[in-house]
Amino acid sequence: MAGKDSTRAYARRLADELREHSRAYYVDDAPTISDAAYDRLFRELQDIEAAHPEWVTPDSPTQRVGAPPSDKFVSVDHATPMLSLGNCFDDDELAEFDRRARDAVDGRALAYCAEPKFDGTALNLRYENGVLQRATTRGDGITGEDITPNARTIRNLPLRLNSSDTGDDTPDFIEIRGEVVLARSRFEALNARLEEQGHKAFVNPRNAAAGSLRQLDSRITADRPLAFMAYGVGRVDGQTLPGSLFEQLQQLSAWGFTISEYVERVDGLDGCKAYYEAMAERRAGLDVEIDGCVFKVDDAATRDELGFVARAPRWAIARKFPAEETTTTLNSVEFQVGRTGALTPVAKLAPVFVGGVTVSNATLHNMDEITRKDIRIGDEVIVRRAGDVIPEVKALAKRGKDTHAIELPASCPVCGSQVERVEGEAVARCTGGLVCAAQRREALKHFASRRALDIEGLGDRQIEAFVDEGLLESPADIFALGQHRDALVEREGYGEKSVENLLASIESSKQTTLERFIFALGIREVGETMARDLARHFGTLDALQDEASAYIARVQRAAHEHPDNRAARERLLTAEGLQAVPGVGSRVAHCIADFFSEQRNRDVIDALVAAGVQWQSVRTTSGAQPLSGKTFVLTGSLEGMTRDEAGERIEALGGRVTSSVSKKTDYVVAGASPGSKRDKAEKLGVALLDEAGLLSLLEDAEAD
Ligand code: IVH
Repeated sequence: MAGKDSTRAYARRLADELREHSRAYYVDDAPTISDAAYDRLFRELQDIEAAHPEWVTPDSPTQRVGAPPSDKFVSVDHATPMLSLGNCFDDDELAEFDRRARDAVDGRALAYCAEPKFDGTALNLRYENGVLQRATTRGDGITGEDITPNARTIRNLPLRLNSSDTGDDTPDFIEIRGEVVLARSRFEALNARLEEQGHKAFVNPRNAAAGSLRQLDSRITADRPLAFMAYGVGRVDGQTLPGSLFEQLQQLSAWGFTISEYVERVDGLDGCKAYYEAMAERRAGLDVEIDGCVFKVDDAATRDELGFVARAPRWAIARKFPAEETTTTLNSVEFQVGRTGALTPVAKLAPVFVGGVTVSNATLHNMDEITRKDIRIGDEVIVRRAGDVIPEVKALAKRGKDTHAIELPASCPVCGSQVERVEGEAVARCTGGLVCAAQRREALKHFASRRALDIEGLGDRQIEAFVDEGLLESPADIFALGQHRDALVEREGYGEKSVENLLASIESSKQTTLERFIFALGIREVGETMARDLARHFGTLDALQDEASAYIARVQRAAHEHPDNRAARERLLTAEGLQAVPGVGSRVAHCIADFFSEQRNRDVIDALVAAGVQWQSVRTTSGAQPLSGKTFVLTGSLEGMTRDEAGERIEALGGRVTSSVSKKTDYVVAGASPGSKRDKAEKLGVALLDEAGLLSLLEDAEAD
């Protein structure tokens, strides 16, 4: 570097370059240099600034790392108040909002700017001549807390607005409003790290975002992967922004802010309703939590006309999703016994409305989770029910007054057999096997379920009743139900017709496939995919059974021949037989071997075959098939076939069908109303097929 001036100019160039790279990485999601190269440039700038502290500007990229702690936050007024939003919880209330808004324009239909409602914490940013000067929390809407050093550490938040060469598109003064959020994917990792360091985990991403933003030591904030989602502006001086809110958001994006990719301009009430439905579908698949949609009258003149009530605009409303979390009291705990004997602690709760339904039972998962969450009977707990998932007790909300510990029973609450907890495993199990009525009942439900033998008319409720009445004990009894025909017809709520139908579907279920049959057996660790891989690999049930017995012999031989050499033992076991099947490790192989070594299980299989259950032998996977190695994800509804049928055709050609989209997915098949999987495919650049595209691909492959 020749002289002081050129060093200074160089530092400015460095800062500009770093800003560009940082924006590409954090805002556009399209990195332009390697992390290492970025770090090198960053350190170079830091070194220059260390030698010339007077050159450090507040918008320098080095200012994102956090400043030394302060003792308290200073209160400051917002230039214009930060308003709140009216809420509504159903379509009628939304219609009422739309009707009132339309009254202002003689009943004409209105265009709305539709946005997700981010579930984070609000932030107000003040830029003067394009440079971030101050960041404040919302506070009471009039006055907030100055948390500028913390906000500077948020990587996708521009410290300076991007502007055209002339710079005349940056206002002299502007307030930008948005929500600070923490992505779900980052939240889990953050909590794991906090717990490892002996700190308390956050209950949800919102609390994590709010807590991280209000740190007196901004170096802590810098370490938290926060993001800023811009949704609006406050006071603006020295420039006229577009009147349309939708266009305003595009301007924010041009200045370098992240806006939601789901912002849309929609028409009228119908447009709002359709947008809400689409977002509700997407919700579970989004990495940033949202708790509803916001609809804002797009046109400036109409907004002015409508004005405000109290502290909320009449031109905007939040249509909230049903809350997914709430608190309630844990009254007691019962232990439920599953198909494989696993004991699941089930919380009995004071009933609460959450996720759109009233919940009074929720899973506590297992004893380790109870210990980790420090939950006791009598506590106030946080219950979560998201989408279709089973409600769970997520965390302790508040220690109750009169509490007692949750204890694992020593014997099975159903059959009284001993309960066993294997060292290092979180799950406790009833050792009763098929002696245990609960395990029998669950095994039967599994056997008849849609993805197993698929016996229509024999659902969970019927099975429970039949077991209670002594009509069913083992799966083979299902095929003897015809002998109890009269008793069945007599049953309450049953008639000739439904018994006819049931017996017919039992009869037709006898014709099945090897993979369905293996899956139906309910071998521990053998899910649908594993059952399919086993069927393909071995071709017949006999071959699988032979390998299962050979496996035990091989384990013994390995232990005998290489008592001190684990690697040699593993080589011997993985080379052939069970563990040669993709995805079968020693744990799964043990479960399979254990299952077939049990005489009771072999008897059940024999009885089923004797009752006439049969399948065609399977073409084994030695030769490559047209779709071998190709992975498909099916989403949305198809017209000419069900998703299951499409899956079966893909698999018959050697392809695999999985449920989640990743970079490894080869094709995403999107039917009608595809939801978030389609979005993810687009994001990851995975090939998309519509139904016609899938059909022609299948036909080509079948012709091969
Ligand atoms: S607009 C005049 N848009 O929801 C309208 N708010 O009560 C003022 N929020 O805590 C807010 N996403 O931080 C708006 N797309 C969005 C939003 C949003 C989340 C938050 C906001 C505030 C609350 C409004």
